[in-house]
Amino acid sequence: MNKGLFITGTDTGVGKTVVSSILLASLRQSGIDAVPMKPVQTGCTSRKGKLVAPDLEFMLDFAGIKPDKISLNLMCPYKFKPECSPHLAATMAGKPISLSRIMAAFKKLTRKHQVVIAEGAGGVLAPVSDRKTMLNLMKLLNLPIILVARPGLGTINHTLLSIREIRRARLELKGVIFNQTKPGNPGYIEKDNMKIIARLGKVKILGFIPFTSEAPRGLPRGILAKASEIR
Ligand SMILES: Nc1ncnc2c1ncn2[C@@H]1O[C@H](COP(=O)(O)OP(=O)(O)O)[C@@H](O)[C@H]1O
Ligand SMILES: [Mg+2]
Repeated sequence: MNKGLFITGTDTGVGKTVVSSILLASLRQSGIDAVPMKPVQTGCTSRKGKLVAPDLEFMLDFAGIKPDKISLNLMCPYKFKPECSPHLAATMAGKPISLSRIMAAFKKLTRKHQVVIAEGAGGVLAPVSDRKTMLNLMKLLNLPIILVARPGLGTINHTLLSIREIRRARLELKGVIFNQTKPGNPGYIEKDNMKIIARLGKVKILGFIPFTSEAPRGLPRGILAKASEIR
């Protein structure tokens, strides 16, 4: 791995932040200086008059990283309060998203650290303006990609379409990670979904992260064990 990984998903809420956090913590436990990046964050909260990026904060807490103010801004150059698509949040704030500004922040981070784990907002075609999508940013960053998907019913179409777009952009897709955000054991549908997606998508399945009640806090050991399969 040279500069990092880009973690995208088939949708919002599929587990991009959780997967990014696991990878980040796992890399750091192996002695690699890996840091997170959330180029665009919507749904920010306010603290002491400043916007706080929840995904970035989750990743930093999970991996036990305490960056200085400058690094913190580089890790999340665009923060918006409304929980909506980046293009809409940027328009509402009157603050257009510049992909070259994100690139500049990314380059500064890569100069200071070995690996940057960048988490996308939404899926590959989530718009960042009325002309550009997340995929345009992914092309500029040119990092190998991990696609996070739901294991259950409805995932085949979403996952295969995302794979097609990633490949159409000539980006390197490392593989798919299935993440279970709801309780329950994987049944015949989930098991077959992984097989049919691997076959039709000609893609590697890098791992299956089961539901864990510990996911929102701390370092869930069970999940970390799975991270070795992902890497
Ligand atoms: N394996 C898991 N087990 C339990 N809860 C999970 C798991 N993965 C994600 N979640 C929860 O599901 C929600 C969405 O996950 P998140 O990583 O934030 O998705 P995304 O970054 O794609 O929007 C969060 O509340 C998160 O804590
Ligand atoms: Mg997220």
